[in-house]
Order: sequence, then C-alpha cells, then structure tokens
Amino acid sequence: MEYRRLGRTGLKVSAICLGTMQFGWSTDEPTAHAVMSRAVDLGINFFDTADVYSRWVEGNPGGVSETHIGNWLAGGGIRRDQLILATKVKGIMGDGPNDKGLSRSHIMNAVEASLRRLKTDYIDLYQTHSPDHETPLDETLRALDDLVRDGKVRYIGCSNYPAWLLAKSLWISDVRNLARFDSLQPHYSYVHRAEFERELQPLCLDQGVGVIPYSPLGAGFLTGKYRRDTPMPDSARAKGVQQRYMNERGFAALEKLEEVGRAHDATIAQTAIAWCLANPTVTSAIIGATSLAQLEDTVRGAEVRLSAEEKEALDAVTAWEEQV
Ligand SMILES: NC(=O)c1ccc[n+]([C@@H]2O[C@H](COP(=O)([O-])OP(=O)(O)OC[C@H]3O[C@@H](n4cnc5c(N)ncnc54)[C@H](OP(=O)(O)O)[C@@H]3O)[C@@H](O)[C@H]2O)c1
Repeated sequence: MEYRRLGRTGLKVSAICLGTMQFGWSTDEPTAHAVMSRAVDLGINFFDTADVYSRWVEGNPGGVSETHIGNWLAGGGIRRDQLILATKVKGIMGDGPNDKGLSRSHIMNAVEASLRRLKTDYIDLYQTHSPDHETPLDETLRALDDLVRDGKVRYIGCSNYPAWLLAKSLWISDVRNLARFDSLQPHYSYVHRAEFERELQPLCLDQGVGVIPYSPLGAGFLTGKYRRDTPMPDSARAKGVQQRYMNERGFAALEKLEEVGRAHDATIAQTAIAWCLANPTVTSAIIGATSLAQLEDTVRGAEVRLSAEEKEALDAVTAWEEQV
C-alpha cells in the first residue's frame, strides 16, 4: 500500500481510505468488523465515517457507523495511534433546532457524541459534511480551531464545498490565524468529474489541500455488475445508480475501463480506482465495500499504474465541456 501526504500536512494516509457509510445500512456489525480488520491487513490506515451514518435507514437514529468503529477499536481492532480516523459533522442528529448544522453550539455537542461513540479521545480529521449557509464561516472555523487547540481534533477538512466557499474559508483561517481546512472530500469518479475538476481541482492544487474523493466507484456502477440489458443487482445502491449512470455515457465509460484494464489484468473496479489515483491532486480514494471479496477486489486498484497514454484515452471518454 502506498502512503501519501494529506495535502500540505505531514500526515501520511493510505492511498485507499475505507468508507463506512454502509455500516448499519447494507452491512451488519460482524461484517463491518471483518471488513475493517481485513482493510488493516491490506495496509489501509485511513477510515472515513460521519455522525449521521446511517440515519436514513428506518429506525436508525444515526451514529451507527461510528458505534461499529468504536466497538471494533475497543475490541482491539487496531492500536489507536495506527489509525487515521476521519468523521464529519453537520447532518441532522435530533429533532431540536440545534441538532444539526455548523454552529459552535452544534459542533461542540456533536464532537462529544462522536468521541463517545468512537470510544476514543481524539479525532484525526474532523470534517464539515456540507456547507451550512445559516452559520457564519468564522463561527464554524473558530469552533473547529478550539477543538484543535484542545487536542480533541488533529486536522480539519470539509466536504461538498464549492470552490468559492473553500477559498473563502481558507482566507478566513489565514487572516484570523485559525486552523485551516487541510482536506476536501468531493464527489469524484470516472463518471462524475466536472463538479471537482472545473474549479476545485486547481484550487486544491494551488492551496495544498488534500483531496479524498468519495464514491470513486460510482456507488458500485464502476464494477461491472451494472450492465446494459441486464437485471439490476441486488444492492441498496441500485436505485441511485440507475438514475445517475445507466445511460450511453455510463456504458461507454464501463467499456473503456474494461478495455484499458485488460492490459493490466485489472477488473473494472481496479481500473476505476487506478484512474482516480492517477490524478496528482488526489490523496486517497474513499471506497465502500459490503464484503471482504469486494474490498479485496477494489484495493488492488491502488497497485495498477496507468501510462500517460492510457490515462488520456480514458479521460477522453468522460470528458466534460466548459459551459460558457
Ligand atoms: N461526504 C459525503 O457527502 C459522502 C457521500 C457519500 C459517501 N461518502 C463516503 O465515501 C465512502 C464511499 O462511498 P460509496 O460507498 O458511494 O463508494 P463507492 O466505492 O463508489 O461504492 C461502494 C459500493 O459499491 C459496491 N461495491 C464496492 N466494491 C465492489 C466490487 N469490487 N464489486 C462489486 N460491487 C462493489 C458496494 O455496494 P453494494 O454491494 O451494495 O452494491 C459498495 O458499498 C462512504 O462510505 C463514505 O465514507 C461521503
């Protein structure tokens, strides 16, 4: 496994990050523990979760993914100082008006709840899950800075921010001498490119912000199990995939991944990961896996090295056009 610096920081994270959104949703707790242990065996030292996972499942109060990680850690899953643990704040965690968002009030409550569920006394990377336009940026950044100074959080990052908001956040941190966002977690894959590549990519490169894309397999689409004229696979993700990628562009992308992968004896999933990691802005791809077999398949993508010509040929198929 390759370890890369998270942006301009000195922190080294594995090129594959284990996403844990499926815990409590499409995987039960024993499977979650097995996936985490195998991920560590494969050299992964970086896990991503969020307080809100998987609150969308009926009867699930949220926090389940963090709880599964906390139980696994407490059971000796890995020595705490060997794991880079990332979680997020902002999602709705209760019925009260302050049980969500990025106010100082909610952040201070949410971090304590995450620490309790994760059974740890610090979070390596604390991320704002998405923008909160009802809270001033300086309020959020000052609260996060206090957590860094208290030692409860080591680095801060953001997710789903547009470029203008990330640039403004970095500027506020700079002029007020507050901890700055050292990572961005964008939605980015071979079939979902423009949102990141248009403005965020040059910004992150210029500012030394680490990039840790989520859904690099297109929520399972870029694995070969979604095919033209083939019944949908049995997956909690299938509905979303069908709406987004089951079209001519998506199928052409799959065919190109399959063709390029053949020269490396790589599966579609492995080639999709290799494509993502070949982008010099990307630090680590956050993958999901509902079984050990999926995990083992996808992780090998970090070993596949695409040539410049192969990368270019792949890029051409899902290129996006500047809208003017
Ligand atoms: N910041 C945010 O807003 C945000 C949003 C989404 C995700 N995330 C983070 O990113 C992580 C990954 O997101 P994601 O789950 O969408 O990523 P993904 O890697 O694109 O998709 C993972 C899903 O694809 C299927 N799959 C994975 N490997 C496979 C293989 N080798 N063969 C066949 N199917 C395979 C599995 O679903 P099935 O088995 O059910 O088909 C798996 O859960 C999440 O866990 C979370 O940590 C963050």
